[in-house]
Amino acid sequence: MYKILEAKELAANIFEMVVSAERVAKSCQPGQFIIVRTSEDSERIPLTICDYDREAGTITIVFQIVGAGTQMMAQMKAGDAFHDFVGPLGRPSEMITDPIEEVKKRKYLFVAGGVGTAPVYPQVKWLHEQGIDADVIVGAKTKDLILLEEEMKSVAGNLYITTDDGSYGRSGLVTKVIEDLVAEGKHYDVCVAIGPMIMMKFACLTTKKFEIPTIVSMNPIMVDGTGMCGACRLTVGGEVKFACVDGPEFDGHLVDFDQAMKRQQIYKTQEGRAYLAAKEGATHHGGCGQCGGDQ
Ligand code: NAD
Ligand code: FES
Repeated sequence: MYKILEAKELAANIFEMVVSAERVAKSCQPGQFIIVRTSEDSERIPLTICDYDREAGTITIVFQIVGAGTQMMAQMKAGDAFHDFVGPLGRPSEMITDPIEEVKKRKYLFVAGGVGTAPVYPQVKWLHEQGIDADVIVGAKTKDLILLEEEMKSVAGNLYITTDDGSYGRSGLVTKVIEDLVAEGKHYDVCVAIGPMIMMKFACLTTKKFEIPTIVSMNPIMVDGTGMCGACRLTVGGEVKFACVDGPEFDGHLVDFDQAMKRQQIYKTQEGRAYLAAKEGATHHGGCGQCGGDQ
């Protein structure tokens, strides 16, 4: 069992929890994720790691209520415990595995949309610890939905906040801020965009125009998190990839976002899962007992 040490609501329906998970905290890296289950027979929920403390043996997660599973999680309090807390899963961010001398030469721009701010934070923090200060754009619908502002301020080189309704910071979508920064003469070697798929799609269209290589973190539906069930299948550069083992980060200019968004919708129903199982065959073989691939 994995004890919840702290639990608080950061914004309406968005929660932060600090969880005791020593083994995960020991080896996790920015960009990786975990899968939680509240009880033995509950849904598996993948969440990108927001922060970790190796000495304290804790992991910080941030999640939004989007269904029954996350609703159950939101009701848990400090002192309660998760049945499963599996990880770290997926590959660490490219910046962690690339030679640090190369990373230090690059000017990074992070684009964080809504709840996607949580997985951006450990990456910006990691760069800051290496002496690299990145520019960060944080976008949310409205002022109340801006997350981790103080935390981000303490690790970012420049922080640009924007709200769709203009209630705080700049006004407009994150893509407008990318355009504005480039128009102001800023140069970036790499952009990392994390948020809703639609945001990542349009951020990639914008950075493509400016020829800024862009990494995105894909969060399709996941079931086993080990490459077995096929739930998180994507097409990247014309090739089939699985977000849980090949990602979650990919070259955003090569991701087929339209297919990923359509697939996400289809996967929500039993009929849709059966359709995908028939269409995708072997890579959607089921066996996990949950994804519907074997039905
Ligand atoms: P949101 O819908 O409030 O969007 C956040 C920001 O993204 C907006 O303020 C805007 O600046 C930008 N954006 C949205 N649509 C855009 C468009 N068409 N063009 C350009 N910019 C656009 O975000 P939310 O409600 O916090 O998002 C929740 C979603 O984020 C969920 O679907 C969740 O699964 C996803 N999410 C993704 C990750 C990830 O790893 N990629 C992590 C956490 C959450
Ligand atoms: Fe990736 Fe099952 S969640 S293959």
